[in-house]
Amino acid sequence: MIIEEKKPRYTMHNGFRMPMGFPPEAFSSGLSYQPQPGDIFIAAYPKCGTTWVQYIVWLIIHDGEPLPPGKRLREAIPMLEGFGKEFVAALPSPRAIKTHLPYQMTPYHPEAKYIHVCRNPFDCAVSFYHHTKGFMEDYDFVNGSFDEYFECFIAGEVDWGDYFDNLLSWYEHKNAHNVLCLTYENLKNNPQEAVNQIAAFLGSEYLDKVKNEQILNKILTNSSFERMSQDPNRWATPRPDNMPFIRKGQIGDWKNYFSEHQTKRLTEKFVQRTKGTDLEKLWSNLIPCLAAEEANN
Ligand code: A3P
Repeated sequence: MIIEEKKPRYTMHNGFRMPMGFPPEAFSSGLSYQPQPGDIFIAAYPKCGTTWVQYIVWLIIHDGEPLPPGKRLREAIPMLEGFGKEFVAALPSPRAIKTHLPYQMTPYHPEAKYIHVCRNPFDCAVSFYHHTKGFMEDYDFVNGSFDEYFECFIAGEVDWGDYFDNLLSWYEHKNAHNVLCLTYENLKNNPQEAVNQIAAFLGSEYLDKVKNEQILNKILTNSSFERMSQDPNRWATPRPDNMPFIRKGQIGDWKNYFSEHQTKRLTEKFVQRTKGTDLEKLWSNLIPCLAAEEANN
């Protein structure tokens, strides 16, 4: 059950839940952006590896060279609904754009490319919980507990809406010529393969770059968890030192937070929402109870 006064603060914009303090004008403006051929969208539900994929894309475009000193990723690859259309339209080409929007709200062009990254909902919930605690001015949830946050997450009453709505909206288009669907877990288990996949999707000029071993190694080193966590202020607005944005970067941290009952409830929601899709099998090796559910069906 959600206890109103213990919830993080949000604001509703045209029926869509956003963090408090998020500019509604930029949100509306971003949604009306007219994509151009060659635009590269990096789309993900929050906490599913957006920043990581953004940086990989930046590194592929820039031959593995890190962001120059003082440059922030959030300005180099801005969030569409956070910065608005003028800011995005003024980016140098090739334009790379971040969004947390579901597919149907993301501006579409058949010659734009859309990279979607998803992550199992259990780790996503834990990561989102820490995110929500850490951006104090946005959410006012610094003392919130995981149990309180979990109720909001499973009800879909968190910013950018319900996890499953977002996941299903993109996954339905996974075979489209201009959509690439990745998982955080595959990225983590085999970053080199993921970098190759992204480069191949972006086009032959990028694939040629990553065939160069030196460039490939620079991309992998500069986008590693270790390297990215050494540079905390490049990825997000400042956070307290003990709540870094690049936090743990692990698969399975959820086991340190979920009670048995919470595990059962989110598993049930997962099974119910993904029935009839091959998403059912995507994470069954990571989440034993999903495998058990599958065996029972
Ligand atoms: P955790 O909170 O589980 O550590 P997003 O960018 O979509 O907000 O996702 C943030 C999550 O991605 C955080 O997860 C963060 O640590 C993780 N992440 C960011 N860069 C990473 C990297 N280079 N390797 C592994 N995980 C990374």
